Amino acid sequence: MTDLIAPYGPLAFFLDLHPDLGDFRSDAIAGLSAPQKWISAKYFYDENGSKLFQKITELEEYYPTRTEKEIFSANAPAITAGVGPRAAIFEYGSGASEKIEWLLNGLANPTAYVAMDISKDHLIESASALARDHALPVAAVCADFHAPVDLPQNALPAPAHWLGFFPGSTIGNMLAETAVAFLNRAAKTLGPGAKFLLGVDLEKDPTVLNAAYNDRDGVTAAFNLNLLRRFRRELDARFNIEDFEHYAFYNAAEFRIEMYLRARRATAIEIDGLVFPFRKGETLHTENSHKYSLPRLTALIAKTPWRLDAVWTDERDWFAACLLSNS
Ligand code: AVJ
Repeated sequence: MTDLIAPYGPLAFFLDLHPDLGDFRSDAIAGLSAPQKWISAKYFYDENGSKLFQKITELEEYYPTRTEKEIFSANAPAITAGVGPRAAIFEYGSGASEKIEWLLNGLANPTAYVAMDISKDHLIESASALARDHALPVAAVCADFHAPVDLPQNALPAPAHWLGFFPGSTIGNMLAETAVAFLNRAAKTLGPGAKFLLGVDLEKDPTVLNAAYNDRDGVTAAFNLNLLRRFRRELDARFNIEDFEHYAFYNAAEFRIEMYLRARRATAIEIDGLVFPFRKGETLHTENSHKYSLPRLTALIAKTPWRLDAVWTDERDWFAACLLSNS
């Protein structure tokens, strides 16, 4: 079911594509039933999880957020010139991001801003605040990255072109083939002539990567364990939280950080009378965070309609801001 409400408070429109958040229970049960137990990383981001992620971005060990910010500010004139005037921005997974402020203030005459996020309340709140603070039409789409989105074009002034904005290396959560499908869908949503500003975390010394996902203060551990707290709060799951620990490491063969919740002893999680046993050391996979080299990133983009126009990196080549165009 699709709802288009226009206008919606201060928003030009609110499009609700009803992302499958209601399926937390069935996703949890299906994931716990698999030989390698798993749950989608999208479930990290309830209110508490979003707060914990915000704390992660401020950690000394967690370099991506601050490095991306440095790249954006050091290259603002070139990036905004590359995007061009009168673009309408479509942000994927807008969350609590302040990055959009930077972009809105730097671009020449942006015509509109459309925020897309999976979390409806959060989305309406942050998009409405943005609409009040900026003299530009703002709209919101409640959807997950993997949903095809058809933009209601006549609800907004016609832009010169659309600009997809997907910072933070969230694309790294996707397997390569999922990232290709995502970029293909984005090309369809944003149309010919569109541009896309993409943040991508790069391959680097595994020591740096391992530290970024195993911080001293245990914030990443709390972020990971929040999933189990959600099992308990929202699904009435029964288990001992102390039976599980945070486990994250760089898998060099797959070029990614893998994150798990690992059983410290033989234990079980019970949901709806179903018992999911864990052997000691058995894991529940919670996240992949892929790291790219520029050649592997270029090869991935070559499988999509997008062309890689420019790449900006920091001094250490730890992170890349990429400008793509759909020509
Ligand atoms: C928001 C997906 C980019 O992969 O680095 C941070 C999430 N997980 N610490 C990342 C995350 C553990 C983050 N992304």
